[in-house]
Amino acid sequence: MSLSIRQDSLKLQVIPLRMYFLVIKNYSYLGINPVSHDAVIIDPTGEMEKIEQALEKADAVLRGILITHAHPDHIQLVKPLVKKYSCPVWMSRKEIVTSGFNCDRLIGFDEIPWSVGQIKIKPFFTPGHTPGSVCYLVEDNLFTGDTLFTEGCGSCFGDRAATQVLYNSLQYLKREITPETRIFPGHSYGKKPGNSFSSLLQENIYLQFNNSVDFCAFRLRKGQKNLFNFRWGA
Ligand SMILES: [Fe+2]
Repeated sequence: MSLSIRQDSLKLQVIPLRMYFLVIKNYSYLGINPVSHDAVIIDPTGEMEKIEQALEKADAVLRGILITHAHPDHIQLVKPLVKKYSCPVWMSRKEIVTSGFNCDRLIGFDEIPWSVGQIKIKPFFTPGHTPGSVCYLVEDNLFTGDTLFTEGCGSCFGDRAATQVLYNSLQYLKREITPETRIFPGHSYGKKPGNSFSSLLQENIYLQFNNSVDFCAFRLRKGQKNLFNFRWGA
């Protein structure tokens, strides 16, 4: 018993931060190594003070910024954070090229792991929602941006070819991600972030498809409402 408690206390601490980008409800996440107090932030947006206060409370130092994709509601605080903490920013090469995003200390990467202080980062390229979208695996936590939500998946805005690509990305995650991995999406439609991938595999309808034709027909079906009606997880 004491050994499992000790092991849990050494795991990455994930702090979900509820943020507003205009009227859109987003989640930014801090990942903190409890031993070294190194911290990374995923998709910083919203209120700077929330990030500063969470870092201070955890006695952590921001070492890096990980961007899942370059949509405005996922990158709003990148430049102010770089200015304040002088930390590097990671975004896939493809996303940099296709979005035109630029900032100081920006690093484009290929699909190979790296470390930020004592935090090991493993990227999974999951295009579809955007051409260079990435999910980040940090220990047993997967930060999925707008590729995969607990209750659904990202939109490809009516683009059939991109929807096919998104299907392939979700299949890739199904092959590579272990069931116990906790999923932390960029938005919620009502469920708290941090559910296991195994629960999504059972309950998320977009993970039930085994062929891209049916997936695309369903993802692109007419009459979808409230695509941006994001809520806080309860
Ligand atoms: Fe997005």
